Amino acid sequence: MSFFHIHYHDDYQFSGLLENRRVIIRNTALEASEYIADYIISRIKSFRPTENQPFVLGLPTGSSPEIIYKTLVRRHKKGEISFKHVITFNMDEYVGLPRDHPESYHSFMYKHFFSHVDIPPQNVNILDGNAPDLAAECASFEARIARFGGIELFLGGVGPDGHIAFNEPGSSLSSRTRVKTLAYDTILANSRFFDNDVDQVPRHALTVGIQTIMEAREVVIVATGAHKALALEKGLEGGVNHMWTLSALQLHPHPLIVCDRDATLELKVKTVRYFESIEQSGTDARTQGPPLAYRPRTYVPAPIGLSKTHQELTPQTTPQKVPKDLRINTELSRSMEDDELTPDSMSSRMADSAIGGLDSALKGDMLFDRMGARVISH
Ligand code: GLP
Repeated sequence: MSFFHIHYHDDYQFSGLLENRRVIIRNTALEASEYIADYIISRIKSFRPTENQPFVLGLPTGSSPEIIYKTLVRRHKKGEISFKHVITFNMDEYVGLPRDHPESYHSFMYKHFFSHVDIPPQNVNILDGNAPDLAAECASFEARIARFGGIELFLGGVGPDGHIAFNEPGSSLSSRTRVKTLAYDTILANSRFFDNDVDQVPRHALTVGIQTIMEAREVVIVATGAHKALALEKGLEGGVNHMWTLSALQLHPHPLIVCDRDATLELKVKTVRYFESIEQSGTDARTQGPPLAYRPRTYVPAPIGLSKTHQELTPQTTPQKVPKDLRINTELSRSMEDDELTPDSMSSRMADSAIGGLDSALKGDMLFDRMGARVISH
């Protein structure tokens, strides 16, 4: 049996030969995003998740993943993929921003993804930036990840300064979920979501750490647009460095970076050609199958001192105090699906969005329903 056709779910033999470092380059952000959506779908399907053995997916926010979410939603609506047995853990959330604020990462995720697919609400894990004890919230988030046996695939974006999640330049490469003070660059970059007013951007966030990401079995990064070119160069060609936290993935056995042509602008021609030659030699990430060694999902007890909080936050008992506007209607009726749909406009209001203008390109083949149409009102 070829190593590239191993079924992940089988107790296949471990092979140290399966380390692979993949950089996939596509001409446009749309193609790069569709590649990733395809990849995620194929990974979930080959995993064959069940209620007892769900697929654990780490998810990001930001403008870069928007088309990925749109594609996943479209494929879900075509009946090609279900998220019923998928557990999600989001990378980060602002501190102090109300959960139902339009720019909270809770709102983002429900608006772009959760409200449109069949994921059970209790399978969604997003850090609570308004928790009374932020340190305990971070610790319980790590404990929840551990309870599910770790993250199977962590999807992430990258900031123009090379940060992943909110692991700003200078973050410890061994960091775990914690409170992080945002770098000025990030506050400036994210002010586009807050009427270009830097004063409205929260100064702190909760974020998974670099180590949290590194422990995922696979990490997939989307990097699109010329404004990500320097980050990609530092992350891929520079040394492992806490000032460009993307570079930590050089130490991960299974990173997959998918970028558009613009994001490669600062890379050496040699680097680009090398990664293109790998893809051309037939090792397409989508067809070679999950490359990972079998790792049994074992229960990992909470660190000493956390067990009480931990027990209260088992997947089944996690309190789901979801505000009214952020609920998933998993009983979506066909008539609601057939209602007139409105394209999502989040990207179109971003002047420097890497996908700016793509909404119109997508309109023909994919329309979005209004979030309100899927919200259960009480
Ligand atoms: C924020 C998020 C990151 C994201 C980054 C880039 O800082 N915390 O997870 O990768 O923005 O976002 P964008 O894709 O909008 O450029």
